[in-house]
Amino acid sequence: MNERDLDVHRSEAAVTTALRADVREGLTATQKWLPSKWFYDARGSELFERITRVPEYYPTRAEREVLEGESAAIAVATGAHTLVELGSGSSEKTRLLLDALTDWAELRTFVPLDVSETALADATRVIAAAYPRLEVRGVVGDFTEHLGLLPGSPPRLVAFLGGTIGNFLPAERAKFLRSVRDVLQEGEWLLLGTDLVKDQDRLVRAYDDAAGVTAEFNRNVLRVVNERLGADFRPELFDHVSYWDAENEWIEMRLRAREGMRVRVPGADLEVEFTEGEHIRTEISAKFRPEGVAAELADAGLALRRWWTDRRGLFGVSLAQAVRMIE
Ligand code: SAH
Ligand code: AVI
Repeated sequence: MNERDLDVHRSEAAVTTALRADVREGLTATQKWLPSKWFYDARGSELFERITRVPEYYPTRAEREVLEGESAAIAVATGAHTLVELGSGSSEKTRLLLDALTDWAELRTFVPLDVSETALADATRVIAAAYPRLEVRGVVGDFTEHLGLLPGSPPRLVAFLGGTIGNFLPAERAKFLRSVRDVLQEGEWLLLGTDLVKDQDRLVRAYDDAAGVTAEFNRNVLRVVNERLGADFRPELFDHVSYWDAENEWIEMRLRAREGMRVRVPGADLEVEFTEGEHIRTEISAKFRPEGVAAELADAGLALRRWWTDRRGLFGVSLAQAVRMIE
């Protein structure tokens, strides 16, 4: 089989409506912010792929190291017939899982889900060509909204890689983990990648590479608002900031206005004033401790079965199983 069709759960009009609501809320707040999912149009997805290759950004390489060593164990433990990948992007590392689940389990279906239609279309084309016996069913959707609609037969393994769980605020994270638990049957699996707390210098540099790729990725959110809502942001007037919030243990990416300005956003019926130095928070990227990951999983009804890190202890991967909730 060579199935390449994507299930698209959101119309362009619905995407624009959702962006309008987020812009109205985030850019009228006292401390301005925008949700990080708006980075990922075609250009943003490409920039993220470039980030994964800059020397400072270690998470992708560290997680790949774990998957290289442990994918066979994951396949044997889960025996998954369906692999669902949330926020799948290029699904490049996922090929390690696909290989192992084909060799050591009886994988039949791969369901990558992503908001970025271009990234998903490219990934499904490449994966379908490389694994001709696999049913590949790409879903364009939002993992905070569309988990109930996922295809595939049990036992299922849901993979959420790259540390993307860190891009939620803590309350959103708890809600998201519960929603994953809710769509799983008892005994099914979650494979979760989490970036770990480490020295501040390494963290700040990982989000401020010397080549400026992360800065361009950060500014891309302003281009997305310009394109979808007809805004007149001048991205070059915003400086990229990578800031370690030691209390919350997360990296914050910000865009800081170089000068005072007024930005028109006609598609959101809005004019936004910036003072010099004022910033927009565009992303948080939480960093975890092993005991915190286990506790958050348990709170959601997901029992930690295995925990691995790369040799340098930079990045953690958990394998958890859906268990009955004791209220
Ligand atoms: N899993 C890949 C990609 C991580 S980048 C890796 O480990 O390298 C984060 C991915 O999540 C992007 O492809 C982005 O488009 C997607 N994404 C971000 N917010 C999303 C949301 N709310 N719903 C679905 N996908 C989302
Ligand atoms: C997708 N996510 C896990 C990345 C991160 O590290 O938080 C996004 C990113 N932002 C800047 N660089 C990479």
